[in-house]
Amino acid sequence: MDLTIKNGTVVTASEIMAADIGVKDGKIAAIAARIDGGAETIDAAGKYVFPAGVEIHTHLDGILHGMRTVDDWYVSSVGAAFGGTATIVDFPMPAKDQSLQGIVDEFTGRATGKSIADFAFTPIINRFTEDIYQEIPVLIDNGIPSFKLFMYYDWTVPDYELARLMDTITSHGGIVSVHCENAGTIDYLADKAMAAGHTGPQWHAPTRPLSTEIEASSRVIHVAEELNASVLIVHISAGPVVDLIARARARGVNVYGEAMPHYLCLDDSVYDRPGYEGMKGVCTPPLRPRENQKALWAGLRSGALSTIGCDHCAFPYKDKIRLFETRGKRIDMIPHGAPGIETRIPLLFSEGVNRGRISVTKFVEVSATNPAKLVGLYPQKGTLAIGSDADIMILDPEKEVTITQEGLHSNTDFTPYEGWQVKGYPVTTISRGTVLVRDCQLEAEAGHGQFLKRKRFEVF
Ligand code: URP
Ligand code: ZN
Ligand code: ZN
Repeated sequence: MDLTIKNGTVVTASEIMAADIGVKDGKIAAIAARIDGGAETIDAAGKYVFPAGVEIHTHLDGILHGMRTVDDWYVSSVGAAFGGTATIVDFPMPAKDQSLQGIVDEFTGRATGKSIADFAFTPIINRFTEDIYQEIPVLIDNGIPSFKLFMYYDWTVPDYELARLMDTITSHGGIVSVHCENAGTIDYLADKAMAAGHTGPQWHAPTRPLSTEIEASSRVIHVAEELNASVLIVHISAGPVVDLIARARARGVNVYGEAMPHYLCLDDSVYDRPGYEGMKGVCTPPLRPRENQKALWAGLRSGALSTIGCDHCAFPYKDKIRLFETRGKRIDMIPHGAPGIETRIPLLFSEGVNRGRISVTKFVEVSATNPAKLVGLYPQKGTLAIGSDADIMILDPEKEVTITQEGLHSNTDFTPYEGWQVKGYPVTTISRGTVLVRDCQLEAEAGHGQFLKRKRFEVF
């Protein structure tokens, strides 16, 4: 063996075992009660040995809301690795007239030589022209089976194209992720609020009410049902959407739901903070009243929600303020999003497993196994099995950390979790047998990460 991880508690989505893991040529070669020898040994006594996290919702080094996010692939992947994640699947946005393959190639160039995490892309479809429809089967054949649509922003998908794209992508073996908000209602409510002189972050949530997320999610579910399409509803904040998904899944609809730490941990009281402080919570959909959190945790437990993403969108607080002030003080002009790639797993473990809201196997299922399945990477990624990539996270369940911006690796100037105490933290992250972070110290060189060609989506 090249590497042996000894004495840990090995956890997959279905099993918990006292076992050693042997790694050879970047793959898991053995899992057994005792494995002796190996060129290198890591002692994981008293710790969990998990599949490294798989993150499938980020906006790295790309333009959104007219501003480029400030974390490049090196910074983002280092943060990811400190937070236990070794694979990132990002959402690149094509420029005007750029092909989907073109944006994937461009972003592959941005990540190559920088990322320490393995990477892939779910391209955003932001125009609905015949050339895009013709590209889709070619991309799926070339190992890019996932695509992203928005029901808000300047690239809102019209209903006809929503149906046609869901049908086209699914029938060729792909899956569609959809941002679900009713754009027309939100734009109208924002105009109305502005006309009444209501500006500032406290108006972010009232102009994007729960009903706008529920209506759009419901529309997507019904279209998916009609066309037998496979769809992932991303960043769910509204408790009632969990229920819609549960009922649809019970009817056999291939709809999956994505949870996120900020909706599980934060609530809309963030917007009441003095001055511009509330802008730190300006993301879409907005943070919701606290009672929604219960439904989201329950959705993870029941399987209505399949995965957890972070929506890492590195807009500094100072730029949120600057752009709000220079764009006519419109609430809908504050860049949407917050950093989160490094805190996803620590928060999920601490708030989920440690507080008894989810089991340790569920933690693995939603942070690694299901995200890998949703993007066609399983079982190469997302599990600990013979032949899988040796992507491993060792987590110390006793380690206590106070989250601060200074202690994280993003180039942003804030974290929404400043001062949060977490118990249980990733200490070592391994990618294809190479240690990225060991005992909370960076070891990897920029450029370790490789582009991942993926399989077609399989319903699970
Ligand atoms: O606020 C968010 N979510 N920003 C990123 C773009 C998106 O909608 O995912
Ligand atoms: Zn979105
Ligand atoms: Zn997003």
